[in-house]
Amino acid sequence: MAFLLLFFSLLVSSASACDRCVIQSKASYFSKSSALSSGACGYGSLAVGMSGGHLAAAVPSLYKDGAGCGACFQVRCKNPGFCTKEGTTVVVTDLNKSNQTDFVLSSRAFAAMANKGMSEQILKLGIVDVEYKRVPCVYKNRNLGVRVEESSKKPNYLAIKFVYQGGQTEIMGVDVAQVGSSNWSFMSRRNGAIWDTDRVPAGALQFRMVVTAGFDGKWIWAPKVLPEDWKTGVIYDAGVQITDISKQDCSPCENGSWS
Ligand SMILES: *[C@@H]1O[C@H](CO)[C@@H](O)[C@H](O)[C@H]1NC(C)=O
Ligand SMILES: *[C@@H]1O[C@H](CO)[C@@H](O)[C@H](O)[C@H]1NC(C)=O
Ligand SMILES: *[C@@H]1O[C@H](CO)[C@@H](O)[C@H](O)[C@H]1NC(C)=O
Ligand SMILES: *[C@@H]1O[C@H](CO)[C@@H](O)[C@H](O)[C@H]1NC(C)=O
Repeated sequence: MAFLLLFFSLLVSSASACDRCVIQSKASYFSKSSALSSGACGYGSLAVGMSGGHLAAAVPSLYKDGAGCGACFQVRCKNPGFCTKEGTTVVVTDLNKSNQTDFVLSSRAFAAMANKGMSEQILKLGIVDVEYKRVPCVYKNRNLGVRVEESSKKPNYLAIKFVYQGGQTEIMGVDVAQVGSSNWSFMSRRNGAIWDTDRVPAGALQFRMVVTAGFDGKWIWAPKVLPEDWKTGVIYDAGVQITDISKQDCSPCENGSWS
């Protein structure tokens, strides 16, 4: 138990920058959202269907070695003539190491920050001042999905990625076991949203994930996910969704100027 608590506190402190704070930065865009669909998170062509194509490549501090993949942010540009108050909500699908912008957006997301009839103008600017904060991802009537990657190979090797990850947390750990068994094997984050293990149990599989929640971690248990004859390229319904919002202490920035 002491070990688990230590484990959780290490996880939480490693993800400690309070992402509910409003941050001032700049954003630019890729002219093709396909540039993002081959992004570092490994979502591939699935990315285009996420958040209506409102995608973002984020700086390393938000990408967090892949733990930031699938996180949602509300981003709004600050030019009052051009920009709406709401801005747009994007999902992180890629990494960009630019030192000028915290986000490189898909052009669709970039244009969506503009007032009606202003999208041409804002695209012409190319780079704009923005403010942003993390917001929960909401997938209506959709559970967390577990996609089996093509590199998986029975009997020992399984690589999966999580898609449609709701809430405002990060998945910090993943275990897999045969359905009904308590012999869990841990999976490792290979890159982006992809986790793997070369000790995959036989049979139908269950998963449990540690997500950041509250000041500690929290287990999310998906008791029946992959059937015994799981196949690569298929997205399996985890039967659960993540709705937690990580509650680190965000004072003094909380309740800032965001309205
Ligand atoms: C980061 O984004 C810029 C566009 O603002 C692009 O030119 C550059 O290639 C991207 N860098 C990487 C590593 O993807
Ligand atoms: C940003 O990066 C470029 C090249 O990678 C470098 O020349 C420039 O000095 C950097 N700017 C800042 C403010 O760090
Ligand atoms: C637990 O699972 C691992 C990996 O599937 C396996 O190698 C090991 O033999 C199992 N242990 C028991 C006690 O079943
Ligand atoms: C911040 O906002 C929340 C919800 O809007 C409210 O419950 C809380 O009291 C506020 N905290 C401060 C310090 O104003």
